[in-house]
Amino acid sequence: MDMWEDELPPPAAALRERAAGADGLLTTLTETVGAELLEAAPRIRAIANMAVGTDNIDLRAAAERGIPVGNTPDVLTDATADLAFALLLALARRLPEGQEQVRSGRWRTWEPAGTLGADVAGATLGIVGWGRIGKAMARRAEGFGMEVLHSSRSSGLPLEELLERADYVSLHVPLTPETRHLVDDAALARMKRSARLVNTARGGVVDQEALRRALTEGRIAGAALDVTDPEPLPAGDPLLEAPNLIVVPHLGSATVRTREKMAAMAVENLLAALAGRPMPYPVADG
Ligand code: GLV
Repeated sequence: MDMWEDELPPPAAALRERAAGADGLLTTLTETVGAELLEAAPRIRAIANMAVGTDNIDLRAAAERGIPVGNTPDVLTDATADLAFALLLALARRLPEGQEQVRSGRWRTWEPAGTLGADVAGATLGIVGWGRIGKAMARRAEGFGMEVLHSSRSSGLPLEELLERADYVSLHVPLTPETRHLVDDAALARMKRSARLVNTARGGVVDQEALRRALTEGRIAGAALDVTDPEPLPAGDPLLEAPNLIVVPHLGSATVRTREKMAAMAVENLLAALAGRPMPYPVADG
């Protein structure tokens, strides 16, 4: 077994070199597994991704080589929906600003109109993507008394209508060529000026320059991002200067229990394929 021990992910060249003689790969979303890597690693018989998303893996290139790919669905559904809902609440009630006021000593007294936020109960949540995590988000929203709309390829409202009606929009689609920059200038222009965007899916689903403009010009009321493109955003990235923006470091599945389960599933996938058995958690369309 060859394990990359550095804190930071392997640069592409190092990964290529280390994968050259490997029989299987256990990857996380920070590793790009493309045709070039697979070309340089002819023995690979299994790719086990410790994530539910597989946009870091060229599934077609793997399939062409007959390499099974596995992921870690289900076990992170609740943790990710919890985080999305936490971001929604933090945006609605301006928690980062409140904390900053207290820590900096700027908060001096309770005021009738101090740091007013937006209601969640009675508001409309638009869920984009109706898979496991989108549905888990809907369950949370119903518990909070929200009206829930959704839009997906096969059900719900047209995206345009959802964007026009929602007070909060939460993204739960995988990153694919079809969903890249799904939230662009035109999509943001359809949102209400009072609406807020939550992204716990993948950074690439949002056109970040368009989002920066919309926030800066006050065309939407706020955004909370668990994911960005790239991750992390480089220091000084203009998006970080935008108002009413919360950014956290890809924490969706980051609970102890969830990460333990994800690790166990990835190992089970890897060992099964290396032993010539079907992966217990294969990527559905891999
Ligand atoms: C995390 O983003 C995952 O896809 O598991």
